[in-house]
Amino acid sequence: MLFFHNYKKNIQLFMTLDNMNTPPMGWMAWERFRCDTDCKDDLENCISEKLFMDMADRLSEDGWRELGYEYVIIDDCWMSRIRDKNGTLQPDPDRFPSGIKRLADYVHNRGLKLGIYADMGRWTCMGFPGTTLDKIELDAQTFASWGVDYLKFDGCNSNALEQLLGYPLMSKALNATGRPMVYSCSWPVYIGSLPPEVNYTLLGDICHLWRNYYDIQDSWDSVQFIMDWFFNNQDYIQPAAGPGKWNDPDMLIIGNFGLSLEQSRTQMALWSIMASPLIMSNDLRSLDNAARAILQNKAAISINQDPLGIQGRRLFKEKTKIEVYWRPLVDAASALVFLSRRSDMPYHYHTSLEKLGFGKGNYEVYDVFEGSKPKPLNSTEQFTVSINPSGVVMWYLKPVKTESGHRTLL
Ligand code: GLA
Repeated sequence: MLFFHNYKKNIQLFMTLDNMNTPPMGWMAWERFRCDTDCKDDLENCISEKLFMDMADRLSEDGWRELGYEYVIIDDCWMSRIRDKNGTLQPDPDRFPSGIKRLADYVHNRGLKLGIYADMGRWTCMGFPGTTLDKIELDAQTFASWGVDYLKFDGCNSNALEQLLGYPLMSKALNATGRPMVYSCSWPVYIGSLPPEVNYTLLGDICHLWRNYYDIQDSWDSVQFIMDWFFNNQDYIQPAAGPGKWNDPDMLIIGNFGLSLEQSRTQMALWSIMASPLIMSNDLRSLDNAARAILQNKAAISINQDPLGIQGRRLFKEKTKIEVYWRPLVDAASALVFLSRRSDMPYHYHTSLEKLGFGKGNYEVYDVFEGSKPKPLNSTEQFTVSINPSGVVMWYLKPVKTESGHRTLL
């Protein structure tokens, strides 16, 4: 894959550093497995060490890890209902009998990393022990001592002042442990998602990524609701992202029940345009081949992991319900996505690179989901893409001559 020569290099970089130069990739329990604590009746799906060991096995044996999917992230409902006698968080003894340290070892032995969940507040969103201000240092130390590599810090059951103090304090406390840990903040969700309530500059200084908006659910409606919010507000949030600081529109739900093939490609395409974390929440033990192919698409991942780390933007919405999205990439390359919001039939969209704002010159175009050979295209040439209802056509394109002919940020 000469066309994506940067890809391997990026992945290598990504695997050795913890400062999140590119968006994190991995798997998280929440959207698919929620707070199922019933291991008696539902051993396969309940929140238990077995679930995370199963997913670590799949990530390491089914080709995911090599593509960059390296975090196995525990979400809510892993804890015991009470802290131990020293005030330390502890896992539920029946569902995590080996303890989190042993689970971290299991994950690390497979070349993966472990993420965990805590909540800045009195209780987690599902009512397990929270991390009040006085417990922040202790909890950071506990996670470090267990060998945790990533913390998702939620914000249920606290007020704005506690959050204002708590989120920066946790950042300091994690740094003070000396263990590199990725810090994912849910703070913006709880204070209105946008400036002036949300200070994106501060978030970029203290968190590696942050959840801006509502939780994703297993439906196309939910994916559209989230992506529309992100692109409608791109002027506020797009400049906030960059290497080490990422907007997080929430998990990839590809491989579950709610999305068609076209809609699954749309989520993968737009999450790659947005430089979003690629954190799947699905059942890797029973994923079908179509979902696997989308999630393992090397060109889409390479676009998502582009080392420039510039978040893409929506260029425009046509009256015909076609939308065009763009992300600038390293080496003057670009990613383009043509999305159809129609519900009738494949739509033939006619345009040219010039009309899309590209500079004059010759380009090479590669269709990400078709996997075709790169095709030459002049900027003035009219072309037609056929876009399926709720689907996308996604291109990777590169000027043939590098010094001119690339699009500039609007
Ligand atoms: C909140 C978060 C979700 C998930 C749940 C767990 O809703 O936004 O991602 O962590 O809490 O209770």
